[in-house]
Amino acid sequence: MTPPAVSPPPTGGDPRPREPRDANQPPARGTRGGGYAEAAGAPAGVAPASGPAKAATAAGAAAAATAPRKTPAPAVVPPTPVPFPPDDLKAACEALIARYPQRAAALIPILHLAQKRFDGWISPEVEAGVAQYLGVSDQHVRGVVTFYTMFNTKPVGRHHVQVCRTLSCWLRGAGELTRCLERKTGLRPGQTDEARRFTVSEVECLGLCEVAPALFVNEDAHVNVTPEGLEKLLDGLK
Ligand code: FES
Repeated sequence: MTPPAVSPPPTGGDPRPREPRDANQPPARGTRGGGYAEAAGAPAGVAPASGPAKAATAAGAAAAATAPRKTPAPAVVPPTPVPFPPDDLKAACEALIARYPQRAAALIPILHLAQKRFDGWISPEVEAGVAQYLGVSDQHVRGVVTFYTMFNTKPVGRHHVQVCRTLSCWLRGAGELTRCLERKTGLRPGQTDEARRFTVSEVECLGLCEVAPALFVNEDAHVNVTPEGLEKLLDGLK
């Protein structure tokens, strides 16, 4: 049987409309570009060009060869691992590792312990310490830490409010909750106040879609939240 004809992809650029990026909005979790290299000042990665774009790139490269050289990006210094586990976590970490056939499988529960122990967030040095302890690469740990929104990669306030912004919650008023948070705390998603009382984040599905809209304050889930209920909740947090 002859396979059906397949039309070639359209040329002349991507026909999909693109929303301009809001410069005040932090990138979605799990999409951080260059990791340590970008944090150290190296330029973010650029997708390879093709067709006319490739020719333009070649012309640009020739021009760049004659232009004065820019200061090179600083060399990337890998983080120095913290000694891990600290004495008070040794027994708990060993008990977790004993539950699994491989040490690396205990990574997520050990990261939870590490986050609690190290002031509510996981620094590159803690990532490196955990990686060394479990015998995996720093990048492996970083991939897990940056994928899951329950792990914080920056210092957070005493009350970390995470509002779900995925479909069910959005349809049930999550946007109102974020605006209410902005009004009450003066913080946009991704920000922490100077006194480190609040951190506000927007996150993806929290697994509570049937009782949307949902949010977490630290480790406590709140469901069917209304803006009025959220205001009361925030007023009660010291
Ligand atoms: S969509 Fe919000 S909890 Fe699932």
